[in-house]
Formats: sequence, C-alpha cells, structure tokens
Amino acid sequence: RGSVVETDVLIVGSGPAGAAAALCLAELGVATTMITKYRWTANTPRAHITNQRAMEIFRDLGIEDQVLADATPHELVGDTVFCTSIAGEEIGRIHTWGTRPDREGDYRLASPCLTVDIPQTYLEPILVRNAAQRGAHVRFSTEYLGLVQDDDGVTVDVRDRLTGHEYQIRATYVIGADGARSKVAADIGLTYEGAMDIAGSMNITFKADIAALVDHRPSVLYWVIQPGSNVGGIGTGLVRMVRPWDEWLIVWGYDIAGPPPELDEEMAEGIVRDLLGMPDLEPEITGFSLWGVNEMYATTLQQGRVFAAGDAIHRHPPSNGLGSNTSVQDAYNLAWKLAAVLQGYAAPSLLDSYEAERAPVAQRIVTRANRSAREFGDLFEALGVVGLQGEEMAAALEERKAATPEGARKRAALVKAMETKNYEFNAHGVELGQFYESGAILSDGTRPAPSRDADLYHVMSTSPGAHLPHAWVGDNVTKHALMDLAPYARWTLLTGITGEAWSDAAAAVASDLGIPLATVVIGPGRAVEDLYFDWAKLREVEECGAVLVRPDKHVAWRATNLPDDPTAVLREAVATLLGRL
Ligand code: FDA
Repeated sequence: RGSVVETDVLIVGSGPAGAAAALCLAELGVATTMITKYRWTANTPRAHITNQRAMEIFRDLGIEDQVLADATPHELVGDTVFCTSIAGEEIGRIHTWGTRPDREGDYRLASPCLTVDIPQTYLEPILVRNAAQRGAHVRFSTEYLGLVQDDDGVTVDVRDRLTGHEYQIRATYVIGADGARSKVAADIGLTYEGAMDIAGSMNITFKADIAALVDHRPSVLYWVIQPGSNVGGIGTGLVRMVRPWDEWLIVWGYDIAGPPPELDEEMAEGIVRDLLGMPDLEPEITGFSLWGVNEMYATTLQQGRVFAAGDAIHRHPPSNGLGSNTSVQDAYNLAWKLAAVLQGYAAPSLLDSYEAERAPVAQRIVTRANRSAREFGDLFEALGVVGLQGEEMAAALEERKAATPEGARKRAALVKAMETKNYEFNAHGVELGQFYESGAILSDGTRPAPSRDADLYHVMSTSPGAHLPHAWVGDNVTKHALMDLAPYARWTLLTGITGEAWSDAAAAVASDLGIPLATVVIGPGRAVEDLYFDWAKLREVEECGAVLVRPDKHVAWRATNLPDDPTAVLREAVATLLGRL
C-alpha cells in the first residue's frame, strides 16, 4: 500500500453502465479512471436487445456505426416464434421490437435509430475501446475493496489481482457500476425494494447451424413450450440467437425452492436437444451457468459523492430487453451532470437530480420486466397446459387443432394471450417514454398526454422533462436528426425564424454563466429547415418560442413565445436549472 492514483471520477465496473459512463465522461473531457475486477469485458453474451434510446446515445457519442457493424440488423430481430421446439410445431408468431408494419411507423417516427441486437460480448469492447481512445484510464484485474468519503473527495481501496498489490485511488466522485451484487451500493447503504433470486434460471451457450429451421422466420427469440418450461426462469424456455444462425443461448428455468441442478455438459446437451427438437444433434456447448431472477430496485441512488448505476440499482429478468439499455441511459444521465459540476458551471446540487430522475425509471423497468415474465402464464393457461407433463401436455396442445368448442375456445384464448405479449416485445412507451421531474427540469405543469396505452405507445412532446421529439431537419444536401443538432457536449436552444432574438440571448447567457449553450434556428434559409414540417407540429410552442434541450436530450425548459427580455428570462431559467441562483 502507499501510492495514490488521482482522478476526477472513478468508475467501478466496465459493463454497459460503467463503460458507457467512462465513454461519456471521456467525451466531455473529464479525467476518468475505470476499474474492473476481471481481465477483460463480459465473457458471455448476456444482454443483447439494444433499443432506440441506447442507439441514440451511441449515435450521439459517435459510435453508432461501430455498433451497427457488429450488430444483427433490425430486419432480422423481429419474427418472434412460440413453438414446442425449434424443429417442432409452431404455436404462433409475433412481430417484435417494432417490426410489425403498423408499429414500425411508430418506431421510425420516434427516433432516427431502430432496435438492433448486439450481444454484450460485442458491445462492451466497443464502449471500452472508445472510452480509452478518448482519454479514460482503464484498469483491468483491479478489484474494488472499499471507500471512505470526506468533504473533498473519496478514497477508494483497490487490489491489483495480478500482483495482490493494494493501493488507493483518490477521486472527486465515484460511480458504482459493479452489477447486481454491487459492493459499492452495499457500502454506501443504498435502500432497495423487492427481492433477489425469486426464480432459478440457467444459461447454456452453444454452436449449431440451424439456419434451415429459422432463417425464414428470422428472430432473436424462439420461445419453447415444453414440460417444465414454466418452472422458474423467465416465463418459458428460450432459444436466443447470438449470431445468425449458428450461435445460440438457451435460457431454461429450475425450481428455486429445491436444490440447484447439477448442470454439466451432458445435461446442457440434453436441454439443447430437447429445445431444438433434434435428438441426434451434437451441439458444441461453449458455456453454462446458473443465475437467479431478481425483482429489486433501488430507491436511493446516491450517498454523498458516490453514485450507483446499472444493475446495481435495477435487478430484473431480461424480459423487455431493458437491462443493458437502462444501464447505458443511467450513465448518460449522470455523466454530463458530473462534468458540469467538475467543470464549474453547475452547483453540486445538480447531482441530486440523478436520483430524482433515474429512481422512478428503475422502479418502472423492474416492475415491467417481471410482469412480462409472469404474463407467460396467460399463454400456458390459454393452451390449458399448466402443470401438465409428457403425454398429457402433448394432448392439451393437440386440442388447439380440434374442431370442438374446447378447441375453438383455446384458439380464441391464444389470440388474446399473444396480444398480451406486446407488453414485453413492443412496449414502445416503456422503452422511450422516460419523463423526468427534478431540480434539473423547470416544469410548466404539463406532461405528455397519452392518447393510447402508455406502456405500448410513446408520445412525443416538448413538455419539460420529456425527451426531445424526433424530426428530420437539414437542407437540400444534408439531412440530420434533430438530436444531432443538440450534441452531448452542450445545451441547445431550439427556436424558429421569428424567435431569432433568442440567439443573442443565449450567447449572452452562455458567456455570463460560462456554460456551453448554442441556439439552432430552424426554418427556411436558416441553420436547418424543418424538412417534413414535423417539428412545426411537434414543438408545442409558437415559432418565436424556444425549447431548451439538455445534453442528454431531455427538455429542461420551454418558452411559448418570445418575451420582451429573452436574455433575462433565459438567464433565470438556466441559472435555476444549474443551481446557480
Ligand atoms: P454488469 O454486471 O454488466 O457489470 C458489472 C461490472 O462490475 C463488471 O465489469 C465487473 O467486472 C465489475 N465488478 C463487479 N464487482 C467488482 C469489484 N468488486 N471490483 C471491480 N469491478 C467489479 N440482460 C438482458 O437484457 N438479456 C439477457 O439475456 C441477459 N442475460 C444475462 C445473463 C447473465 C449470466 C447475467 C449476469 C446478466 C444477464 N443480463 C441480461 C443482464 C445484463 O447483463 C445486465 O442488465 C447488464 O450487464 C447490466 O450492466 P451493468 O454495467 O450494470 O453491470
């Protein structure tokens, strides 16, 4: 022990939350050190569905192309199948992740990006590489041991796992992104609701080329209903594509109340053959592990100078594909605030808004994911197979083909149960509709008004707290998403031609308060045009009004009209938002 490494922000963990935080902070020029316990990034595919908001973040950070290059594209993710086995009978399909033509419109109108599939084993190296290239220090095989806070910073004890050498890192702020069993969160005493290990589950990764059985119904997920498939796990058996169509991951449950299964290669091979319905297959098993399904979210996310992000604050099954996405979004929310405080243009009180904004998101996604897993019960009931085994289950499944009242009842119940699965696979409102209420938002008392189901449908709005709506802007040679004009490194004021006086106001406020703030005037002959006239319909303020967008693309404040003294009005708004009044 002895040497002390100094940094502005220390991040514990290099998963989606930690690596995204390192990239965001490095992008903003903050001195950042990221430590991680293992010698490299995730060693199993884990999270994979990457939704529009996460893709927008990658776009904003300039890595969208790299992610797309390693991802399975949108066109191949969505023909989700329910079956008795991959080679067996198909029970039905559902278009997922916004691939049904009518839903695809909702998804395309709401974002410049579409949902893709990139396993964590591919995503994490992209995040880590870019973070390091932009200046973050990354220390592998380095374990967090404990921390002590004082008025000026945090002293963190770490161990180099190669040499056993223990040393200290002194940081102004710490982010605990150390996963579902976060030691950082435990050490700072964060509070939680819910329970861990409510169901038993296992992952089996394997290689087998089964293109002939799947490439006509391309999907990331093939759900298998077989005896035992509703015991534990995530609703039913799952064959998940890792790489099309020869690398796969099976999720299979077990009864958490009993002793854990003795999972070995032979058992893994048996499960693969059963779920694929290919008794003679010789799969190459590449890994297997047991894991617990959790239903737990943090109600506090910060203690002093230490914050937690990612699975450290939300622990839930993979249903709805929200784990890694929400972790990346936590990081994106927190990093610009830390930068603003460290760079001296915001008061430390800005940091309180992280918990106010992200704790409700944690609760919402944990609740939604667990509900989605349970809703597989509707499907089992519709098919009348609850608790049945072997021949009995096969007979009950066969009955859905019968020209009998019971067969007809089953078919009708199946239609309804499949409809419910939209709440897992097309929950656009949950995926995109994060609305913030905090000291970093100046509410005008409005909220986006859902006209349809709030979980399924996203409503675009400029109500302060909502995410900036998507519109295409540009001119005869360029086309940008509106979000591209509001980059992460600054605040952006959007206005129209009769609001041009806001430009001088914003320049004066930027210089007075020393904040990165620029104005974009949207209109013919100006910086960009509203190419499809969408922004005019979405902005919800007069052309001469203004919408103030935070670095993370949430609307912080808006003015319906141009006031007599826009500089004074804007200065008061910005100073309030940054805790500088
Ligand atoms: P994550 O767990 O990814 O990373 C934690 C980091 O902290 C690691 O880098 C680790 O090395 C580090 N760390 C931990 N303790 C440390 C210490 N003391 N010192 C230093 N570093 C430390 N989700 C999904 O949507 N679909 C899926 O199919 C799956 N499948 C799945 C399988 C398995 C086996 C797991 C464990 C998880 C999943 N998940 C999942 C969940 C998904 O992986 C998860 O939501 C994200 O990885 C969360 O990202 P975080 O960055 O928060 O933690």
